[in-house]
Amino acid sequence: MGWLFGNKSLADLSVLRTDIHSHLIPGIDDGAGNMEESVSLIRQMYELGYRKLIITPHVRAGSFENDTSTFDSRLEEVQEVLSDLNIPIKLEVGAEQTMDEDFMYHFHNGELKDFGRNKYVLIEFPFTNMPLNLKDTIFELQSAGYSLILAHPERYIYMKEEPEMIKYLHDSGILLQINIVSLIGFYGKLPQQFAKWLIKKDYVDLVGSDLHHQRHIDAIKKALSNKDFVSLVESGRLMNSMF
Ligand SMILES: [Fe+2]
Repeated sequence: MGWLFGNKSLADLSVLRTDIHSHLIPGIDDGAGNMEESVSLIRQMYELGYRKLIITPHVRAGSFENDTSTFDSRLEEVQEVLSDLNIPIKLEVGAEQTMDEDFMYHFHNGELKDFGRNKYVLIEFPFTNMPLNLKDTIFELQSAGYSLILAHPERYIYMKEEPEMIKYLHDSGILLQINIVSLIGFYGKLPQQFAKWLIKKDYVDLVGSDLHHQRHIDAIKKALSNKDFVSLVESGRLMNSMF
């Protein structure tokens, strides 16, 4: 299992098996800039114990206007290089889709990139405000058969003032995914405290690397001995291995 009992550290993350949030298609967003960087980061995820990665390039109005129909062929290019290097890790591609002014347009055009058996879609909220018409949007998406995962709720600080909305999201069956590195304060004190609160309230279903670059790998390694992260993993509540 990869545990180190006694000092309450994890030897690795093999118990999670699957990471569901990363930016590792070369040159497509603010993640890995080229194939070499992409392969280096994926190799380190393999060494950390992961056996499957869902890669989720940004789709965001104004900054990352990616065409999701190109994602499968881009993923294949990465997979081929990994096969040549004998790194036996499984890859799948989704997208991290921001709920902004273009989101419903993508939805109606069938451009949302889902993954897994239950049409999972990784959604991101704007960092400054709750999406407009959120409840209606959730209803429409779920009625169309999508299962929703909310990326890093702890980073939307405005949501701290809306505990009833967090409960609503959770009760609606939306899976909440915190970033591992939030727990060591990578994004500052507020997201760290918010992440701990979400864990305490039993709202956290998944953890993600949100891996963009080497600094994230270094931070994930630090989290292996973070007591909040260790006890979350030990709790057995995380659903990562289902993907
Ligand atoms: Fe992300």
